[in-house]
Amino acid sequence: MQTASTLDMLRTALAALREGGGTVGFVPTMGALHEGHLSLVRRAREDCDHVVASIFVNPTQFGEGEDLDAYPRQLAEDAAMLEAEGVALLWAPTVEAMYPAGFATSVSVAGVSAGLCGAARPGHFDGVATVVAKLFNQVRPDRAFFGEKDYQQLAVIRTMARDLDLACPQVDSIIGVPTVREADGLALSSRNRYLSADERAAAAALPAAMRETIVALESGEPVAATLAAMGERLIAAGFDQPDYVTLADADTLAPLDALGSAPARLLVAARIGGTRLIDNMAVGPARA
Ligand code: PAF
Repeated sequence: MQTASTLDMLRTALAALREGGGTVGFVPTMGALHEGHLSLVRRAREDCDHVVASIFVNPTQFGEGEDLDAYPRQLAEDAAMLEAEGVALLWAPTVEAMYPAGFATSVSVAGVSAGLCGAARPGHFDGVATVVAKLFNQVRPDRAFFGEKDYQQLAVIRTMARDLDLACPQVDSIIGVPTVREADGLALSSRNRYLSADERAAAAALPAAMRETIVALESGEPVAATLAAMGERLIAAGFDQPDYVTLADADTLAPLDALGSAPARLLVAARIGGTRLIDNMAVGPARA
């Protein structure tokens, strides 16, 4: 596996990779890799001839007082994991390479960025959309792979690709990969390492409460009361008042007050100790 840390190195390495032909799959990450990231790499390897991954802790998607400085950085360890999974090229730019002096552009995706995590983390999705637009233009992949764990992020990136007629990758080639979970159901996240042993044990209440809530919603229980009960259950388990517990249209993320025939998603963000956990699951009929 080659590692590129400047745009020139990346362009040279990509040209060499493309020389023999074949498709390029791209897995953008912020590092601190776990099995969830590796599932993206494995899917990219299945679908594409070459896999390019990136590691960049993007400062513009962290708000004031968030964990930018504390965010785990372990480039050598991550690079070894990517190499073992058959990644051909790692793009690991510096902040200066990504945002040189005078950088002035921001990509903002209205609507889908506004609620849920967008409400609790102002500017977060502008930072994500901007860096992903840059990464797409730098790597110009045939396909890109993102975890469904960050469901709103996936919706923001798909909307950006559709609205800007992105060519590399096209919107239909932005692939969402199912969330990888621990044995007790907790979704894998680089931030799970912030949890103390007690918090980690209590955090299993989140997926358990979501599963019960989905059963209740699918059996026709009223949406508002069922979501409120889920929030209470999380508080009883040791979480703070959740940022949101929402039933939303699976595509537009518009909040739903009733479960209809269209695919829906249960989305949650709640803090335990100092750690903010997010999760989401499908509700109702599966997407066609
Ligand atoms: O999901 C992530 O790790 C990041 O938000 C991404 C997509 C790599 C952009 O920085």
